[in-house]
Amino acid sequence: MSLRLAWATDIHINHLPRDRAEALFRTLLDDLRAAGPDGVLLGGDIAEGPTLEYVLGVLEEQLDRPVWFVMGNHDAYWSSLAAVRALARQLTRTSRHLRWLPDAGVIPLTGNTALVGHDGWGDGRYGNGVRSAVSGQLADHIRVSELTGLTGEALFSRLAALGDEAARHLRGALDEAVREFRRVLVLTHVPPFAEAACYNGNPPDDDWTPHFACRATGDLLREVAEAHPDNQFIVLAGHTHTEYDARILPNLRVRVGRAKYGAPEVQGTLEID
Ligand SMILES: [Fe+2]
Ligand SMILES: [Fe+2]
Repeated sequence: MSLRLAWATDIHINHLPRDRAEALFRTLLDDLRAAGPDGVLLGGDIAEGPTLEYVLGVLEEQLDRPVWFVMGNHDAYWSSLAAVRALARQLTRTSRHLRWLPDAGVIPLTGNTALVGHDGWGDGRYGNGVRSAVSGQLADHIRVSELTGLTGEALFSRLAALGDEAARHLRGALDEAVREFRRVLVLTHVPPFAEAACYNGNPPDDDWTPHFACRATGDLLREVAEAHPDNQFIVLAGHTHTEYDARILPNLRVRVGRAKYGAPEVQGTLEID
């Protein structure tokens, strides 16, 4: 049995120019359908807090097939992580096609391949860490209610906790997946490795990597991949809007999707056997 998946990330529906928003969203939906997928992977930064439910509803209705998703930092803007996660959990349980991966566990895709995922978060541990010169400039730390008003060590311990939460989920899901499946697809928003977190065509920068990559999930993925050399792990990420595709280990490949505000696109299709 084989399966075709379409992958999109950082579609940022909120950043579509107002006068063309409907047409551009429709084009994205047409492109996703035209790829003829059995299911769609959405790598986060789908919308923003107040519009997330509407956008997910349109995606579900128009695509009319499974939509497996994780959320990005923008999905909690002008809201809270607690609120959008509660929404994602509720949709996972009540909607026909929407499945938020942190709440959906291990998804068997074929006899060989399973899907797992978590949002992840820039957990402040790579690069210059708490000494990062840009930490005070990030919209995340103003627009996501759990992070507002935090600075310095208080902020970074919150970021670290978010990374740890993602890694904890992935540890359980991967442990379960490798028992039965030779290949595991891991969908996440934040790249798990600093070297994968390029930005605007530039190589990773030590001031930005604390916020552009998630070390907790990276360390976990490396550990699991090393412990299971006969399994293949393919990570699909977004967040930095800059394409990257490399093998971190012989059995651990990381792809980061490119993205541009106002021009959402399909990253590609994956044929899964
Ligand atoms: Fe994004
Ligand atoms: Fe993001």
